[in-house]
Amino acid sequence: MKKLLSVMLVLTMVLAIVGCSSDKGSGTTTDQQGTKEIVIGANIYNFGDNFMNGVVSPALKEYADAAGVKINIVDSENQQNKLNDQVDIFIGQGVDILAINLVDPASASTIIQKAKEANIPLILFNKEATEEGAMAMYDKVWYVGTASADAGIIQGDMMVADWKANAKWDKNGDGKVQYVLLKGEPGHPDAEARTEYSVKAFDDAGIPVEELAMQPDPNWSTDGGNDKMATWLASFGDRIELVICNNDGMAFGAINAMKEQGVSIPVYGVDALEQALNHIADGEMNGTVLNDGKNQAKAVIDLSLNVANGKDPIEGTSWTLDDVKAVRVPYVAVTPDNFADFK
Ligand code: GAL
Ligand code: CA
Repeated sequence: MKKLLSVMLVLTMVLAIVGCSSDKGSGTTTDQQGTKEIVIGANIYNFGDNFMNGVVSPALKEYADAAGVKINIVDSENQQNKLNDQVDIFIGQGVDILAINLVDPASASTIIQKAKEANIPLILFNKEATEEGAMAMYDKVWYVGTASADAGIIQGDMMVADWKANAKWDKNGDGKVQYVLLKGEPGHPDAEARTEYSVKAFDDAGIPVEELAMQPDPNWSTDGGNDKMATWLASFGDRIELVICNNDGMAFGAINAMKEQGVSIPVYGVDALEQALNHIADGEMNGTVLNDGKNQAKAVIDLSLNVANGKDPIEGTSWTLDDVKAVRVPYVAVTPDNFADFK
């Protein structure tokens, strides 16, 4: 009897260990209670991006933990081919959901096709698909991001109001805004829309503008912003009256270049990173726009959980889906008057 008991005990232990070790792969696993663990295969297009890696990625992990969901996040190193391979690997591992930050927004259909063939639900986030009809290819693909144009509209309105309130910003007194613009990734819906709508705010207000220079940067990077601003200061010097940046990362570089030259020109960003709030506090930056990465991450996890449990993606949440199956988290203006609320 004693022997039988100890055999049973050993057997139970072995089973428990087997139960745990099936967790090795990234595919769906079963815990000791026999409940299915949901696994999300996710990526960030480039760990070098300070908004995606500094805000969105940690928030994804946080919300996944809170929801009891497993998330594996890989770095696509700004290479779409690498992402394609990573998606194949996730599919091979049998993940329950794919949460994908495209490298190339014009390559969405490749990823959507893979997910569809494997019958795995797909949530795209941060970089919206630009190919016509891509989102209609598959009934189980959704997008989480923003209404790209809104960031430009909000930033533009902020700049117009400040321009009107500061007559001396028109340094050469010609009534026109001589600006330089750091764009971000060409073809990225955020970069394109922000560029268009921030400048349009001046047109709408009847204030003429003159673009001195504009520079794309596929990495949205501080180093790139620094280099470009240094070059522009060398070539345009005092003629620059406004520095429009489509994200804070590039604005930080521009601020640095200005500091090195001992000049200060009004500068605006987008994202509302912690460092931007500090620059606003120090009077080194005039405004930014909250790109609410935390809530974007929350929406990704909320949708994933619902879909993995066979529910409607937005059931029991406060999110809404538009006609292209997108959740759009609102942008918010961040100014010297309200920045402290975002700390
Ligand atoms: C934008 C963000 C940028 C950059 C980009 C990457 O929404 O403002 O800073 O992170 O996404 O796709
Ligand atoms: Ca002027």
